[in-house]
Amino acid sequence: MAIIYNQNKKTFSLHTAKTTYQMKIGNLDYVNHLYYGASIRDEDLSYLIKRYDRGFSGNPYDSLKERTFSLDAQPQEFTTQQQGDFRINSIEVENWDGSFSFDGRYRSHRIRKGPFTLSGLPTAFATDQDTVDTLELVIEDSITKVQVTLLYSVFEEADIIMRAVRVHNGGKETIRLKRIMSFNMDYMNGQNLDLISLPGRYGQERQVERQPLTHHVHKIRSGRGISSHQQNPFIALVERTANEDYGACYGFALMYSGSFLAEAELDQYDQARLVMGINDRLFSYAVDPGEDFDTPAVLMTYTHKGITRMSRNYHDFFRDNLNDSRFIKDVRRPVLLNTWEAAFFDFDDVKLVEIAKAAKKIGVEMIVMDDGWFGRRNDDNSSLGDWYVNKDKIRCGLNDLVRQINDLGLKFGIWFEPEMVSEDSDLFRSHPDWAMEIPGRHAVRSRNQLVLDMSRREVQDYLIERINSILDSANIYYVKWDINRAITDLWSNSLDSEHQGEVSHRYVLGLYRVMDGIIKTHPDIMFEGCAGGGGRFDPAMLTYFVQYWSSDNTKPLDNLKLHYGSSFLYPVCSMGAHVSEASPMVPLETKAAIAMCGTFGYELDATKLNEKEITACRKMSERYHEYYDLNFFGDYYRLADPFEQVNLVAWETVAKDKSEALITVITVNLTVNGPQEYIMCKGLDAKTIYRVEGYDSDLEASGMALMHAGIPIPREIPEYTAFQYHLKAIG
Ligand code: DGJ
Repeated sequence: MAIIYNQNKKTFSLHTAKTTYQMKIGNLDYVNHLYYGASIRDEDLSYLIKRYDRGFSGNPYDSLKERTFSLDAQPQEFTTQQQGDFRINSIEVENWDGSFSFDGRYRSHRIRKGPFTLSGLPTAFATDQDTVDTLELVIEDSITKVQVTLLYSVFEEADIIMRAVRVHNGGKETIRLKRIMSFNMDYMNGQNLDLISLPGRYGQERQVERQPLTHHVHKIRSGRGISSHQQNPFIALVERTANEDYGACYGFALMYSGSFLAEAELDQYDQARLVMGINDRLFSYAVDPGEDFDTPAVLMTYTHKGITRMSRNYHDFFRDNLNDSRFIKDVRRPVLLNTWEAAFFDFDDVKLVEIAKAAKKIGVEMIVMDDGWFGRRNDDNSSLGDWYVNKDKIRCGLNDLVRQINDLGLKFGIWFEPEMVSEDSDLFRSHPDWAMEIPGRHAVRSRNQLVLDMSRREVQDYLIERINSILDSANIYYVKWDINRAITDLWSNSLDSEHQGEVSHRYVLGLYRVMDGIIKTHPDIMFEGCAGGGGRFDPAMLTYFVQYWSSDNTKPLDNLKLHYGSSFLYPVCSMGAHVSEASPMVPLETKAAIAMCGTFGYELDATKLNEKEITACRKMSERYHEYYDLNFFGDYYRLADPFEQVNLVAWETVAKDKSEALITVITVNLTVNGPQEYIMCKGLDAKTIYRVEGYDSDLEASGMALMHAGIPIPREIPEYTAFQYHLKAIG
């Protein structure tokens, strides 16, 4: 059993293979958090909680008898409200009488098999239900009868605990949730923790920032209606001394694609608190009597073996438990060429077939027709919403175009931006009220487009019908699902003024319903997500998309940072990465090596390549297939940090059985007459002898030597050269 309830001690212990999480029904039936960390079996850790007088913090006991107990200092599983805890809170509920109290105390619990699911929200799945245990722990305010069920699913082997909460209004009147976080995490000893997050911007997503947790509220958030380029719904709290290989690391990844919030705080007693969930800004959700509200899930992991191991826990889990598409493990993803940077809006059926013929010569296996094939779209000012083939451009019709591409031996992919509408579109002309615009105001335009009100059932049904009918009209193998603006003007014409604070979340729920209706009903189609690059690259999206376009910035050197940052959470097989014409000073081979740190493809006009480039690209496409399994399913190691002043950036993937490894090294700075540089391998079997293949290397050395003495990298190599060393076990 991964979850043990000790009736005498009133403790709940959640055990994964290498971690323990413990809580206890404590004083006055408040549920205390006790511990999260390395495995500790069968011990009551409540001795960790100390009690002493807490000046200025309130006492829920009769204070004549007991003045040493205050929720302001108690480690808790979920917070109360208005009970004397002044730290960041996980719930803010406006009761029917206008009060804001929530005094949640233990009511009941249940332990069962299989992971929890949430109403309308994606969760991780288990192939074998028996391998996951779930705890449902109910706390209740006895006056308002508001119940919060704390949900914990323990994925034992993966060292992952999935959490969420479900609010039930057991009272007789409507309540209003002003803030409801997916979890609360208290650390009794919060000193010396650093917070790692992945901030960025358009074209520079998921950079890495690490800062000490100090005595104020740290906020990591998106209020953009999408998980955003600017922040990612992931944070880690790591020991100050933790590095890639050593130290305690706690990861938290929120499965949500809308506006989110993470808050972390070091309190007056150096205890740390972290909450994460739906952003409470512009949020107010009415829950009627008898109704439930589910929060998005969060995936937590812990390791004391450093940041690399934390990332690996996520990489393995994302591959195994987020998406059951056959394109994750069973079917190889083809080398694709996307027409966007090749042609932008300037293409027709003839040009696409020409590009396809040329692309075939460089080892491309699939052509993706990007933006511009529908309505009357020749630039970005029109036609979004009109998902009908533009017969002026695709004169032969979609089915025939796909047949011509298929006849060349290539697969065919297509682009959509379902959630948007252009004012210059038939859809907008017939349904202006489907766009989000606050009555009497002029909605904010972005890329000259408006946002469809995804909370409306009829909008969802229109999109499901329209897009499915295109997908079913031809032999389509792949879909790129894009969104190219943030969401403003939150308003739904289908809701009354009492419920407008729900629109942002209802949008996300509507989006998931549309994705269920399109993606889950087409298991044979491979879906890639995109949001003007990686503006909605999040764990929830990966339950639908097997890969996500990392960034519109295809400059290879920028991608070194982008891939490095993304790899803190996301596996190589989920990061869309293409070779493009950007940065002409960087050799094609280097661009390819960098794109292999993701799902390799091209973003260029293949008809313009010369013979030398064709040969180089073909070799690179072959190389992608040669190392496909190693790259997609191996253990990933960051070997050098591109954010530091380094001459080389490097990473490595090691096969799970340690029989081979691929090391990629990029020279980013040429030091004239510089020192000899070495790459220290990681993750090899110390006693195994490996042959190091590549670049005239005749090296044969033990894993021990390669990890501790390293591989010498040739000196005075021009900037932007790529080396890929293949290590093969030979004895
Ligand atoms: C933004 C995407 O990131 C690009 O790759 C491309 O699909 C354009 N949108 C098309 O409008």
